[in-house]
Amino acid sequence: MKISPLVKPLLGVVALPGDKSMSHRALMFASLCQSASEIRHFGQGADNQATVQCLRALGVRIDVTGEDSYILPPAHFTSPRAPLDCMNSGTTMRLLMGLLAGQNIHATLIGDESLSRRPMSRVVEPLAQFGAQIKTERNHAPIEIFSHPLHAANVSLKEPSAQVKSSVMLAALFAENESTVVEPEQTRDHSERMMQAFGFPVRRDSKRVHVGSLKKRPEGFSFWVPADVSSAAFWVVLATLVPGSDVTIIDVGLNPTRLGFVDVLKRMGASIEMIVRGKSGGETWGDLRVRAVSKLLATNLVGHEARLAIDEIVVLAVAMAFAQGRSCIAGVQDLRHKESDRIESTAAMLRAAQINVEVKPDGLVIDGGRPQRAHIDAHGDHRIALAAAVLACAGSGAEIDGFDSASVSYGNFLPDVRRLSETSDHRGHAITVAIDGPAGAGKSTVARLLSQRLGYVYVDTGAIYRALAWLALREGIAMDDREALTRVAKNLDVRFESTAGQQRVLCGDEDVTTLIRTPQISQLASVVSQHPDVRQALLDLQRRLAGNGGAVLEGRDIGTVVFPSAQAKFFLDAAPHERARRRYDQLGGDKAAYEEVLRELSDRDQRDKSREAAPLKIAVDAVCLDSTALDVAQVVNEIERRVRAKERL
Ligand code: S3P
Repeated sequence: MKISPLVKPLLGVVALPGDKSMSHRALMFASLCQSASEIRHFGQGADNQATVQCLRALGVRIDVTGEDSYILPPAHFTSPRAPLDCMNSGTTMRLLMGLLAGQNIHATLIGDESLSRRPMSRVVEPLAQFGAQIKTERNHAPIEIFSHPLHAANVSLKEPSAQVKSSVMLAALFAENESTVVEPEQTRDHSERMMQAFGFPVRRDSKRVHVGSLKKRPEGFSFWVPADVSSAAFWVVLATLVPGSDVTIIDVGLNPTRLGFVDVLKRMGASIEMIVRGKSGGETWGDLRVRAVSKLLATNLVGHEARLAIDEIVVLAVAMAFAQGRSCIAGVQDLRHKESDRIESTAAMLRAAQINVEVKPDGLVIDGGRPQRAHIDAHGDHRIALAAAVLACAGSGAEIDGFDSASVSYGNFLPDVRRLSETSDHRGHAITVAIDGPAGAGKSTVARLLSQRLGYVYVDTGAIYRALAWLALREGIAMDDREALTRVAKNLDVRFESTAGQQRVLCGDEDVTTLIRTPQISQLASVVSQHPDVRQALLDLQRRLAGNGGAVLEGRDIGTVVFPSAQAKFFLDAAPHERARRRYDQLGGDKAAYEEVLRELSDRDQRDKSREAAPLKIAVDAVCLDSTALDVAQVVNEIERRVRAKERL
């Protein structure tokens, strides 16, 4: 793969696939639940696919729909007929060892050449403390797991490793009593957070993680996987280095145990803004906005900080190669046992670009400078391939051998880079956009304008309820006659047609656009929409009208009930006084009326949150936008930027 240096700044928004570490874990945890789980925005790389395939071979049914996975767990795992192929994925192999140790099955785990070179005694030893029977080929794969009951153990890990910790936690669920795990240093804590959030018997105190015996399997869960922050790191370094760049990486996992690289880059002078936007499965997520800086300064990276940036060390080394002065990375001997010997392969990459590097047993010393055009070997290691691409784009170009290994985590990196560097308005595939929020937040105005900008259909769900109320009124149906209303709702024929930027509402053959806007219909629509059966009956119609993407829907339960799988969800809110002011301005009333509008709005908020049918809730994967201090154009711009980024995924 030949890569030329970038000549234009990188500008815009990037949306990345789901986090690799969390995706592996979500699948394994779901396989232990007693009812179906739903995992959305699942990681797209080959490593995550390895976990999917292994679990399937163990009898777990996994239905995949686009980027969404749905799991239906079996009561028990079954012994696989053939060896389980973990391919290049260390996390798959190590976590499966813990998961399978206490399952009363017999399984063999194998991997590709690189994985077969990676040490497995670090997992076998702590698992043996539970009584696990595991045979290795001199501490390497193939790994044979035998059926054997497990007893509780208090494990002190020798090395800091999230994979080993997680493997032990999984095994501990199948021991008879409570077990504990202590790690010498904090490592990524996804297992602790996710297991706690999903109802597994896990708790932690300042020193250790306690894992109880899994007496009762938890109910299935619904988890939206935040975007992969380790993939984001390549963007953060690239946008920092390419002059004039301004890139926002959206919906990224912002777990503090993964953000060591942000602190290091900030210390070097990078401009990185972090905006927390939501929480899912105990995990925080949000945006990273990165602007280019004119210079970076050298820094030292040691011990604990290095541990919290373990997967980003290679790309940090690239940043150091462009920095002024000498940088040192120490205490990362574990990098020698990753997909390649990353200390050696990073040094070889930088040397190929004429950067002066000294290799230490536990790290690197890098003299910053001006990287030259290079011929680089990715050594079958995705992080080397991607970091080399950053080096090439920000420096003087490169030829990279074995770049295809990037697909293990982020195969789309180069097309994404090309897109942000050419400010072309190339369109991707149309998606479904859900906008929810309380009354008066500006949802319908925003949805209408947004649909015009995007060329999408605006499925005005309010108009559907109004059309139903109008029809019921015409047919003389009482508004509390649930059965009759549900019958009409099931057969309701509403369509939207657009001419010259105006959207008309058709009910059967009649144009009801203005007929449904009377105060009487408003009031009746809010009554009919309270009936759960009516809401249920209208679900199909709303989904049909939205088709397979290319639609904006707005309401109170679009992202949670009507379209839980919408690719872009927004929760639009504003302070009550501001929403009341907007309403009041629309009505053109006097001061007394403002107080009344405010009171009505507060009552409505209360009803919306507590009502039985479709209460107002924020979807876990919704981006929350507070429009108190924003005008309509700003809100539409913000949503449009995000939708366009998702269209290209
Ligand atoms: C991972 C833990 C880290 C990391 C790997 C993913 C995980 O490995 O390098 O990419 O998902 O738990 P170690 O546990 O070996 O440090």
